[in-house]
Amino acid sequence: MKTTISQSPQFIEQTVTIGAWLANKRSSGKIAFLQLRDGTGFIQGVVVKNDASEETFQLAKNMNQESSMYITGKIVEDNRSPFGYEMQVSNIELIHEANDYPITPKEHGTEFLMDHRHLWLRSKRQHAVMKIRNEIIRSTYQFFNDNGYVKIDPPILTGSSAEGTTELFHTKYFDEEAYLSQSGQLYMEAAAMAFGKVFSFGPTFRAEKSKTRRHLIEFWMIEPEMAFVDHNESLEIQEQYVSFVVQSVLENCKLELSVLERDTAKLEKIKAPFPRISYDHAIELLKEKGFDDIEWGEDFGAPHETAIAENFEQPVFITNYPAEIKAFYMKPDPDRSDVVLCADLIAPEGYGEIIGGSQRIDDLELMKERYEQHGLTGEAYEWYLELRKYGSVPHSGFGLGLERTVAWLSGVDHVRETIPFPRLLNRLYP
Ligand code: 4AD
Ligand code: MG
Repeated sequence: MKTTISQSPQFIEQTVTIGAWLANKRSSGKIAFLQLRDGTGFIQGVVVKNDASEETFQLAKNMNQESSMYITGKIVEDNRSPFGYEMQVSNIELIHEANDYPITPKEHGTEFLMDHRHLWLRSKRQHAVMKIRNEIIRSTYQFFNDNGYVKIDPPILTGSSAEGTTELFHTKYFDEEAYLSQSGQLYMEAAAMAFGKVFSFGPTFRAEKSKTRRHLIEFWMIEPEMAFVDHNESLEIQEQYVSFVVQSVLENCKLELSVLERDTAKLEKIKAPFPRISYDHAIELLKEKGFDDIEWGEDFGAPHETAIAENFEQPVFITNYPAEIKAFYMKPDPDRSDVVLCADLIAPEGYGEIIGGSQRIDDLELMKERYEQHGLTGEAYEWYLELRKYGSVPHSGFGLGLERTVAWLSGVDHVRETIPFPRLLNRLYP
């Protein structure tokens, strides 16, 4: 019977065959312990000299790390293993012998590991992080599908900027200038006017010269957009969504969280509603905390966000930022035109901003004014303004950065480990 490591608990006391790689091994005179992986999980295979053929035992003893095989044996319960099961090996059929695998069980520097990312992905820790990433994606689709959203895919090649013009990747589109998408938002607004509630999930690009543990050049964003939803209603959707994702990861990634030694007590507390503080209040809080030189009107950096987050166990919404430091499309607060109806959601434990969202301007004249103030031109000018011309409605949306969310839930401190092949300031390889 051919099966996988993750399915093997269904075959207790039965003999099965698994296609696997050798992650690590240890042996003494009459017994060899093989750490096996097959992509679905990790299991220990025990080869006892007297219970297997001489050929199988010699193979087990001499096989190199990352060699591939079909391995056959009986699945038994084992309380000492984190997985709970092991295989009593009776036969090994070698598929391919690996030689001098560069990533050995000893310590390696980060740059070395990043250069070998194509192999590093096989390791237990990277495997756990990617499984958590996958669960965040899966539960995202579940949440939005269950709540009546339609998945809409915005284009990646665009003729205009969505989030300011300084961080655009330029490319040629035959004879025209084009850019890689910084955000699908403008297109999602069009989609919301056609489908009511929509969400996207796709890659976005920022030619940002930032070299921090929170910045990638290419990252993945989930962007919901809702017609007839105001700013406060949008915050409620955001906290429901984030709580759902956190609880899904806790429920479905127990093994991965334990491999990563994540403190799950902190995650268990994450439940809507989340606290909200205004930008004004955040400035006061920062001054109290000794950030003397921060002035009203300045944007927050990572140290500011971390200091504010320290006051809360839940993620915290910082709302109503000054219009000047936010994007052109955000709706001014009707009671106070110097601030806009927006919020950034700051994760606890120093993981920073995971969501940026806002209510959008729905008035045609005001939108034209903002376009001009921001010196924006380009093809979006026409079509985006037309959304305000034909049945304009109040609408809101937000973008959740997948990699920062993976970093937070996995407890890894740099986003380079949260995406299979990170694009960083100095890295396009592998
Ligand atoms: O705050 P941002 O720039 O918002 C937008 O792009 C809006 N158009 C979204 C919308 O309303 N539809 O980005 C949203 C999120 C951030 O909160 C952050 O989590 C993530 O995307 N993000 C990055 N993640 C990794 N590397 C970068 N360089 C990122 N820039 C933003
Ligand atoms: Mg932002």
